[in-house]
Amino acid sequence: MAVNIEVNENRRYGIRSPLIYGHFIEHFHRQIYDGIYDPESPLADEDGFRTDIIEAMKKIKVPILRWPGGCFVSSYHWKEGVGDNRKPFFDKAWRVEDPNTFGTDEFIKLCQKIGCEPYICTNAGTGTAEEMSDWVEYCNLDHEGQYAKWRIQNGFRDPHNVKYWSIGNENYGSWEIGAKSAEEWGRLVREAGKMMKHVDPQAELSAAALPNIEWNINLLKNAGEFIDWVSIHEYWDMVPEKNDLATYEQCMAFTKHIDHAVEEVRGLLKAMKLDKKIKIAFDEWNLRSWHHPNVHTIKQGIHKKDYIDPRDKNDDNSQYTMADAIFTASFLSAMNRNCDIVGLANFAPILNTRGCLYSNSEGIVLRSTYHVFDLYVNYLGDTIIDSWSEEVPTMKVNHKNGVEIEIESLDILATKWIDKPGIALAIINKLSDEGQTITLSFPFPPTGKSVSLYGISGEAPDSYNDVGKNEITIFKEDLGDYSKNMEIQLKSHSVNIIQIGARHP
Ligand code: AHR
Repeated sequence: MAVNIEVNENRRYGIRSPLIYGHFIEHFHRQIYDGIYDPESPLADEDGFRTDIIEAMKKIKVPILRWPGGCFVSSYHWKEGVGDNRKPFFDKAWRVEDPNTFGTDEFIKLCQKIGCEPYICTNAGTGTAEEMSDWVEYCNLDHEGQYAKWRIQNGFRDPHNVKYWSIGNENYGSWEIGAKSAEEWGRLVREAGKMMKHVDPQAELSAAALPNIEWNINLLKNAGEFIDWVSIHEYWDMVPEKNDLATYEQCMAFTKHIDHAVEEVRGLLKAMKLDKKIKIAFDEWNLRSWHHPNVHTIKQGIHKKDYIDPRDKNDDNSQYTMADAIFTASFLSAMNRNCDIVGLANFAPILNTRGCLYSNSEGIVLRSTYHVFDLYVNYLGDTIIDSWSEEVPTMKVNHKNGVEIEIESLDILATKWIDKPGIALAIINKLSDEGQTITLSFPFPPTGKSVSLYGISGEAPDSYNDVGKNEITIFKEDLGDYSKNMEIQLKSHSVNIIQIGARHP
């Protein structure tokens, strides 16, 4: 039986910020060196950036890029990474030598090539409030003071104009160098925020938060007046047991209540009457480790822990399948629905490690998750409208250790455009081996009639793209003109965009 979805374009929930489709790049693994920045590569441009990677980033209109960490930043000193006197240093987070040839000026150049906003994360581990505000001086002052003059001397007459700054990274975590207590954090963010805003009052500041009351109350009470964003992170981790790879079902289980952290933080911001002033920057998110099937591991018949590339450290280059794509789409749909409070998000990371792009010396792979960004950025509208269905079927999934949970098998998001005609729905079918049939109804008839379906599915739930293997690409079907009982078939394990009266891009 078909699932009917009613869409009411006259009921608007809000406009999502384009920054929710942001990304992150860290000095970690092969994200920067031997990744996007590889001056020796024949694929690099005159500044040392890989042109194939930049083109792929432009196609998904990366709106904002967070850098340089991550854990890396908590012992990074930016002053040692600009100008001609740079020396390699030992990166204490990932315990490797950093050649230090990629610093602030290279990052800004990269953002200019991509056409995105830079988002700089400061060192709040071993760094000081003063060091952070000196960085703002270097980037944003026209010429006043030694740091702006230093930038000019380094060949950048115009300010870098960095609007988005994050104070610290996960400073609550015992794994972070220079981790802080809740009280210490409130005090440091207050001082850093005050100084950074004194340098550039237009700068927008975020600070590491948690869905944890004590930490956040200290942060908001002490530093709320100086920050514009709270920064939250979440990785959905598989806890590995011996040779226990994450399954498709486990990834589907993670999609249940995927926005729990947003709800908790929104609740606190509302209670403290700060929800109009401070928004959520979900500035690191992804599924992590133990992906299914990690073909590399399976092929070698060994447990992941026995296979560690020295550059891979705590992550591996698993294969990214339709399960990852469905998880990614579920997250993006949820952030669209939370557009009143989530203004920015960064998929972590964009390249290599567990990124949506994989590169080697010969070229790049567009992983399944890359195509999800392509679909959401280029095919979906910016205004969230009402959609509902009484009949969404549920499915039972085995989360882990035999624990079963029930989730809805369809995720539905409806959108339209502010300045273009048409409606676009993102509909995710989580059933691994069954298609689903839907019908659409509109209390107010849509202005255009043509219906098109774009999506990704792959032959199997564990289809993936890799070097020499392209199992997942965007398909397109023209379904003719809309009529009331028109049935639309969704493939199993698929991410779909249905456009009505629209032809975008
Ligand atoms: O895997 C990368 C690390 O994960 C990031 O550096 C950190 O912010 C997160 O905990």
